[in-house]
Amino acid sequence: AVAAAPTGLDLTGLTSATDAGAPGGRAFPPGFVLGAATAAYQIEGAARVDGRTPSIWDTFSHTPGAVVDGDTGDVACDHHARFEQDVELMARLGLQSYRFSTSWGRVCPDGGPVNARGLDFYDRLVDSLVEHDVAPWLTLYHWDLPQALEDRGGWTSRETAERFVEYALAVHDRLGDRVSTWTTLNEPWCSAFLGYTAGVHAPGRTSPADGLAAAHHLLLGHGLAVRALRERDPSLSLGLTLNFTVADPVDPTDPRDLDAVRRVDGQMNRIFAEPVLLGRYPADVLDDVRGLGLERHILDGDLEVISTPIDVLGVNYYNGEAVGHTEPEVLVDGQADPGRPTRSPFPAAEAAYRHPRGLPVTAMDWEIQPDGLTRLLTRLHTDYVADYARGCGRGRAVRMSVTENGAAFDDEADATGFVDDTRRVAYLRAHLGAVLDAVDAGVPVHGFFYWSLLDNFEWAWGYAKRFGIVRVDYETQVRTPKASALDYARIIATRRLPA
Ligand code: NOJ
Repeated sequence: AVAAAPTGLDLTGLTSATDAGAPGGRAFPPGFVLGAATAAYQIEGAARVDGRTPSIWDTFSHTPGAVVDGDTGDVACDHHARFEQDVELMARLGLQSYRFSTSWGRVCPDGGPVNARGLDFYDRLVDSLVEHDVAPWLTLYHWDLPQALEDRGGWTSRETAERFVEYALAVHDRLGDRVSTWTTLNEPWCSAFLGYTAGVHAPGRTSPADGLAAAHHLLLGHGLAVRALRERDPSLSLGLTLNFTVADPVDPTDPRDLDAVRRVDGQMNRIFAEPVLLGRYPADVLDDVRGLGLERHILDGDLEVISTPIDVLGVNYYNGEAVGHTEPEVLVDGQADPGRPTRSPFPAAEAAYRHPRGLPVTAMDWEIQPDGLTRLLTRLHTDYVADYARGCGRGRAVRMSVTENGAAFDDEADATGFVDDTRRVAYLRAHLGAVLDAVDAGVPVHGFFYWSLLDNFEWAWGYAKRFGIVRVDYETQVRTPKASALDYARIIATRRLPA
């Protein structure tokens, strides 16, 4: 059951212009979509239901020591059984769109033939969304590669890209009549480099060369899937979601810090954005990673496939960072921080370190820097979006939406389960403001999805980090909208950001 929060969730009257925040504040442009996001493994549970087979995250989370507290996604938010109440909740919050992902191993067990029972779940979910007037935005790959494919090489193998297309078409066969926005990959940087190079995400490999091979095959899978889906239905809105950092030099006058920034920007942002949107790998990145075998995987025609025209660029932004060439002294109680990761996710980022700037941080220790989002959107527009139709878009324009932005805090629930999360309210408002700043500066942005609708399985952190605007009590599975959910609902209803 959805708990009746003390504030109720009676949102009637929110559209009234006398409500807090209206008519003052800033208006969202007409057509701007406000929604929230989740991902299959993080919320569904039902790990062994209806023929679903294990993904690399099932294997990884069941590996002792891989995830904080040994948490797994076996049950998660039990969304598979509770999706109807979750969609009702979305509708009551007024979400215009819901970004979710499908589980490859539910749809194609072991990455093989289609499993109709697995698809039934998404069929019902999409029906329910449509019925409640919440537009579905579907992500095909949010990190849960079937373990059987990993056993054959995973993303380091070219074959995985081919299997991905079959899976994409299987999902489209069933849902294509009701879902118009399709993104292939979510944050391939994390899949490739946290998964195959830093080893902190599934499948837990620790090889710079494997990370690069994975990056290329993920991109290839994206391009092949866009091509195949476009052939099926030219009217679909297709694209992918990338995660970006905004790296600033610790000392802008020190060429070594500027070079550290260039490398981090190259191996995080440009290594994915340029092949997709400009049809080439950045030359400086190819130089940096020379000797790690990337070229070996790039076959004739690959970049043409990877740069197949898209319609949507999903932008995930959480934080920026100050980057320098020296290692910062990180002290915890007077001692060097023992919990600091020792292995860089960057295949060739020698001497590029993140330096704390003294900004406030979230529970993830991520700096809160809303203006980074304005700068990021502006830069992406200038570098990739504005001229896209004249370049790789071949006449097609690409539209940017913020597909993720949000914050984990150490929430404290009262006796009723309600969380008065003032810091999340402030975070959300500040980042919505940052998007509007970009819009005011002439950068077209078409939507914003808060991460996440629900508290959920935060990967290597398990359930220890809560990003939701809705609290989930994992003992009872009761959902309780937090103050941030109520605030967001009001913003959506009034279509204004309070001053
Ligand atoms: C990015 C990922 O797409 C999502 O799965 C994750 O939970 C959030 N960032 C927060 O780390």
